[in-house]
Amino acid sequence: MGRLLPLLSLLLTVSHVFAVTVYNQVPLADQTNTASSATYTGAAAYDPTVLNPPPVPVGFVTQVSLNLQATSNNVQGLSPPLRGSFLGFSIEFSVINQVSDSFLQVPFLNLMSNIRERAGEVRIRVGGNTQETATLVDSLPGGVMMAKAAVDTNNPTQTPAILYTPEVLYLLGNISALVGVKWFLGIPFNDTTNLRLGIAEVGEAVLSGPGYLLGFQVGNEPDLYAAHGHRPATYSPYDYFGEFGVLVNAISADTSIPVKNNLVAPSVSGTWSPEDVFNTGLVPAYTSSLGFLSVEHYPTDNCYAEYGIGTPVSPQDIFPTYLTHNASLALVAPYLNASAYSASQGKQFVMMETNTASCGGFPGVSDSFGAAMWGVDYALQMGVGGFWGGMMHVGGQDVYYNPFTPPPTNQSSYHQWTIGAVYYSSLFIAEALGPTGSAQLVDLTNAITSNGGPVSTAEYTPVYGVYENGQMARLVAFNYVSDGSGASAVSFSFTVQGGNVGSVQVKYLQAPSVADKYNTTWAGQTFGGTFASDGRPTGSLSIQTIPCDTTSSTCTVPLPAPCIALIFLTPTAFSESNPSTIQTFATTAYTKTVNTATINPSVLATSNGMNGAERGTVASTSNEGGAAGVRVVMGWGAVIGAIAMGALGVWW
Ligand SMILES: *[C@@H]1O[C@H](CO)[C@@H](O)[C@H](O)[C@H]1NC(C)=O
Ligand SMILES: *[C@@H]1O[C@H](CO)[C@@H](O)[C@H](O)[C@H]1NC(C)=O
Ligand SMILES: *[C@@H]1O[C@H](CO)[C@@H](O)[C@H](O)[C@H]1NC(C)=O
Ligand SMILES: *[C@@H]1O[C@H](CO)[C@@H](O)[C@H](O)[C@H]1NC(C)=O
Ligand SMILES: *[C@@H]1O[C@H](CO)[C@@H](O)[C@H](O)[C@H]1NC(C)=O
Ligand SMILES: *[C@@H]1O[C@H](CO)[C@@H](O)[C@H](O)[C@H]1NC(C)=O
Repeated sequence: MGRLLPLLSLLLTVSHVFAVTVYNQVPLADQTNTASSATYTGAAAYDPTVLNPPPVPVGFVTQVSLNLQATSNNVQGLSPPLRGSFLGFSIEFSVINQVSDSFLQVPFLNLMSNIRERAGEVRIRVGGNTQETATLVDSLPGGVMMAKAAVDTNNPTQTPAILYTPEVLYLLGNISALVGVKWFLGIPFNDTTNLRLGIAEVGEAVLSGPGYLLGFQVGNEPDLYAAHGHRPATYSPYDYFGEFGVLVNAISADTSIPVKNNLVAPSVSGTWSPEDVFNTGLVPAYTSSLGFLSVEHYPTDNCYAEYGIGTPVSPQDIFPTYLTHNASLALVAPYLNASAYSASQGKQFVMMETNTASCGGFPGVSDSFGAAMWGVDYALQMGVGGFWGGMMHVGGQDVYYNPFTPPPTNQSSYHQWTIGAVYYSSLFIAEALGPTGSAQLVDLTNAITSNGGPVSTAEYTPVYGVYENGQMARLVAFNYVSDGSGASAVSFSFTVQGGNVGSVQVKYLQAPSVADKYNTTWAGQTFGGTFASDGRPTGSLSIQTIPCDTTSSTCTVPLPAPCIALIFLTPTAFSESNPSTIQTFATTAYTKTVNTATINPSVLATSNGMNGAERGTVASTSNEGGAAGVRVVMGWGAVIGAIAMGALGVWW
């Protein structure tokens, strides 16, 4: 039921897409159908398919070394300063009918809190196709905050429009106050002769004062408007330029939108390159309106399995392509010119939506430990390549790649959340880049040697350096190889030239194999397998201290196969990424009684800023009533339910 419309829309997307090769263009991923592996018939998000890890590469070199500079003075290829919130989330702006019945808010808060305490903030983009037709209204029947409008039956490709009330924006504000989320929102762009600026008016009033608003996306994949039938077939980058100008003028004239320099464009997905739009002169023409320049991209698609469109792809065959450093190099290379251009124009460059594969991802790939490794490498490579941040897409139950998935509505009284591979990527990045905003990345993979010579298999053992305030602070070292025998464990030796390193602390992101999907640990802790998490890591924290040769500042860190090691070179680099207390929301509220959940008002009083050490554990989910200033009853569920579940695996 309700599948036909998005399917038609996708068909148009895909048929268009396969005519285009420039950016390995694929349709974006929120439009998915129920998928299943050969023997499994449940929802994709819980698919148990486990693939075989690729074999150990021939000639794999296990003794590798690296010389590093203690300061960044003479280091080539440094990224701009970056923040630990680099790898955020992208969530479709949508609604599901029965949210008041089914939501699980506390795990979401915990998941965001984990990142905020390490990175200082969390970035979430709420948008996608459904942002284009969303309409803000004063109120809705029954007091709900979101509802779908009727579909125009004359237009088979039209996405059902969302109606929503200002409560939605207040709730985003409430989430931000608790767990430091900063939002990208989208201004509807389906009809620029009748602009609807309500989201900017109310969004700025509610979110921009406290600094919770990053910007407003102007058009979601305008390069696909023609293919989707939302604009004439002749629609070009110059038409987008013109419409962008209409919006800028409308915002200029709207006194209810005081902040006028936070627009995000062009969010193209590859049918047009970003340069196609930049070459219209958009950026200099509207530089005082633009806050960010943006793209959206997935490396490939699984549309054949989902819709019978395109070419079949075997998950087992494609799996190895995610499991080398080449994957992230290839993803970022097409954007290096656009990111350099953005920098030259004084704008941040952001990947607004991405994940392992569109059309839902691949079973056994998108939900594997290998995807977590891929996500870390990709994010770091985007950082090196001049991106300011990237957003991992969250779909519904029907996709394989979710960073987190609430249980199906009718299982919410007995199941918890399922934490996916790329959530670990985001958590890792939070610690690797830390909260200072001064982290500068360098890709050191090409400098890896063995016995003085280059390493032929270095693409399986990439290394990144992180400088903070000009000083070497952390290293990230991968071993992409799976080998339970222990024979492929890498001995990674590095010398910090001009440094004075007595010992290092090491945290591992690890699993028994790249194919594993239930046994991922981060510094010994895990969110478990399917339906296993309330958003807090469980198990004992495990941090290795490894002594170094203090005379030469040479350290040797083992890299089990597979793993990613985060190596802290200074006590400061360690402590700022490892808050002594993480604010969490202990709960039993993953039941339908969640409407009675409240958050102790003291949380709100202490939740700004990021010093976790000052916070007690905040645990109350019993009904304490009247939490001053904190909107919890109903609303939490509606919004978190909508944003976490409603990414339109569900098409009403
Ligand atoms: C744009 O979306 C609004 C709200 O859903 C709808 O009323 C309007 O008809 C749409 N306009 C066009 C041109 O599709
Ligand atoms: C929380 O929501 C309530 C309304 O439900 C609103 O009055 C309040 O301003 C919101 N708080 C924040 C910090 O946005
Ligand atoms: C880089 O981008 C700029 C701005 O769009 C464009 O003018 C230039 O041709 C591009 N260079 C390359 C090598 O693509
Ligand atoms: C990775 O890239 C290098 C350099 O272009 C190439 O030699 C190597 O074969 C690539 N590896 C894979 C697995 O594609
Ligand atoms: C839950 O809902 C789904 C979809 O409506 C239905 O197929 C399934 O049987 C339900 N399961 C239970 C345990 O009620
Ligand atoms: C992984 O976790 C599962 C479920 O908790 C457990 O049964 C299995 O033994 C673990 N496998 C490995 C290799 O650790």
